[in-house]
Amino acid sequence: MSNYHIKHLEEYFQVYRRSVRNPENFWEEIAEEHFLWRKKWNNVLEWDFSKPEVKWFSGAQLNITENCIDRHLHVRGNKTAILFEPNNPDEAAEHISYLELHKRVSKFANVLKDKGIKKGDRVVIYLPMIPELAISLLACARIGAVHSVVFAGFSASALATRIQDCEAKMVITSDGSYRGAKTIDLKGIVDEALEDCPTVEKVLVAKRIHSDIKLKENRDEWLQPLLDEAYGDCVPEIVDSEDPLFILYTSGSTGKPKGMMHTTGGYMVYSAYSFKNVFQYREEDVYWCTADIGWITGHSYIVYGPLANGATTVMFEGVPSYPDYGRFWEIVQKHKVTQFYTAPTAIRALAKENIDFVTKYDLSSLKVLGTVGEPINEEAWHWYNDHVGEKNCPIVDTWWQTETGGIMISPIPFSTPTKPTYATLPLPGIQPALMDENGKEIKGNQVDGRLCIKYPWPSMARTIWGNHQRYKDTYFSAFENMYFTGDGALRDEVGYYRITGRVDDVIIVSGHNLGTAPIEDAINEHPAVAESAIVGFPHDIKGNALYGFVILKETGESRDRNNLRNEINQQISDKIGPIAKLNKIQFVTGLPKTRSGKIMRRILRKIASNDLSNLGDTSTLLNPEVVDQIIKEKL
Ligand code: PRX
Repeated sequence: MSNYHIKHLEEYFQVYRRSVRNPENFWEEIAEEHFLWRKKWNNVLEWDFSKPEVKWFSGAQLNITENCIDRHLHVRGNKTAILFEPNNPDEAAEHISYLELHKRVSKFANVLKDKGIKKGDRVVIYLPMIPELAISLLACARIGAVHSVVFAGFSASALATRIQDCEAKMVITSDGSYRGAKTIDLKGIVDEALEDCPTVEKVLVAKRIHSDIKLKENRDEWLQPLLDEAYGDCVPEIVDSEDPLFILYTSGSTGKPKGMMHTTGGYMVYSAYSFKNVFQYREEDVYWCTADIGWITGHSYIVYGPLANGATTVMFEGVPSYPDYGRFWEIVQKHKVTQFYTAPTAIRALAKENIDFVTKYDLSSLKVLGTVGEPINEEAWHWYNDHVGEKNCPIVDTWWQTETGGIMISPIPFSTPTKPTYATLPLPGIQPALMDENGKEIKGNQVDGRLCIKYPWPSMARTIWGNHQRYKDTYFSAFENMYFTGDGALRDEVGYYRITGRVDDVIIVSGHNLGTAPIEDAINEHPAVAESAIVGFPHDIKGNALYGFVILKETGESRDRNNLRNEINQQISDKIGPIAKLNKIQFVTGLPKTRSGKIMRRILRKIASNDLSNLGDTSTLLNPEVVDQIIKEKL
């Protein structure tokens, strides 16, 4: 019998030891007992981090939607699979049963096939959090097409970059989206993006806000009439375990976004196994993750992980502040949510509001609370624990990444004693290591270093789409034979991990990964700008906010500074999206640089954070005098 479901701490340690001693054997048992394969694997694992190449369950064949839908039909066909809660609380929630999900995914899959989508083709999905979003992912997977969801808050230009990079044949979108009291014209954004995307042949448009949009002839079609006509059963395409399931873009510290490619078999096994254990999911539970499916959290822990376990997963279209700051808790009460998974930035924003927004609802259904995406500060952790969990619900602080596909370090509730701000212990099969700057592993406890993973796990990304060299350079070159996460971490006296933050040029703002380079590129395109540098500084709700140091060209010197600030932020919004806007923009005459011309961000970070006590040695700079000037003129 495999250890699929861990129930107490001793069992965790025993399972963990076994998973490290013989990982192949451990994952093979889980894969065999808990999933449906059409053909068994030849090898559980083949790997070589120096290439890097990783294959899990190679030779095996399956379809992930059979695992997420079909196999549940006999046992829980009428159970709610997806519980859709609309933006507007007066609009009725929708309960989509497994049987209905099967029909809707099949119909959608048949539409895709009819429109010429075949196994391996890329389909970009740019949709709000409506049922069609989850269904379109599954429909792609049903026919072996590769989905790439682009978060529907990204700009036309960011969308175009992603469509071009994966050479998508189709885009699935909607007329628009609701976001609290606002509506957003998604189709307009898609139209603009597609001006530069020759590979896209078809656009399917879901109707959500009933706005007056134009359909481009021979390219755009309303989705619903096609679904109405489609046949309600679709034989699943059987794919290889290592066939791609999806591409999901994440920011890098340099250049264009990285299309992380995830494959099928290992991703399925790991997302399902980690879901079951981290949330201690049981058959009658109602699980809710507030993330957007446009991020990895939504892929693994709204769609694939929960559905592979036959769970009821809530999809929420709206925002935590609409119609008021009690919305999350109203939903918890209404649907008797048992597991609730959100981001520290949301917790901090809600903790600022009147506590009545929380206390007026009955939250007694809750059993487990989760956080993800950025370090959770102690104050937010206690607020979550005291007021939402009423000191009765373990908090799982889950550390992981788009690249890891699934949760890597996290308490197992009711087993691992929690500790505020600590992600605690690795899940079974995960072998973390802390490394020093010389590439040596730091053993023992009460140490800190760069967080790496020593051994493959089933849901790791296999490559960066179209750029394997970049995959190798980014993740497998800093430390020999290790996956480097880009994060720093410490290990306390009992071996618990605490993630201390990024050690590269990625800044996490409100839980979103933002690379400095793409933002700087966007700013530098402004005609009045000569050069710029972005750093993060602490912000009490967003975790980090962005501070930009901008050098103007001579032609820009006479311009009004506030107008320029607005134009620069508009430029960032257009190129990337509003999430990347700068909180502060300081115009400077120079940036501190090393003699080789590299911007010293460390110094800028300290200035932006008002931490001027220890700027380090600035005498080796090419231009030490600019440091004093920047400090003098600081905002
Ligand atoms: O820095 C870590 C931070 O988020 C990064 C990954 O971001 P992304 O790929 O967008 O995925 C987010 C959702 C999985 C990590 O490198 N991060 C994520 N979770 C935590 C975290 N930092 C501290 N604590 C966490 N629990």
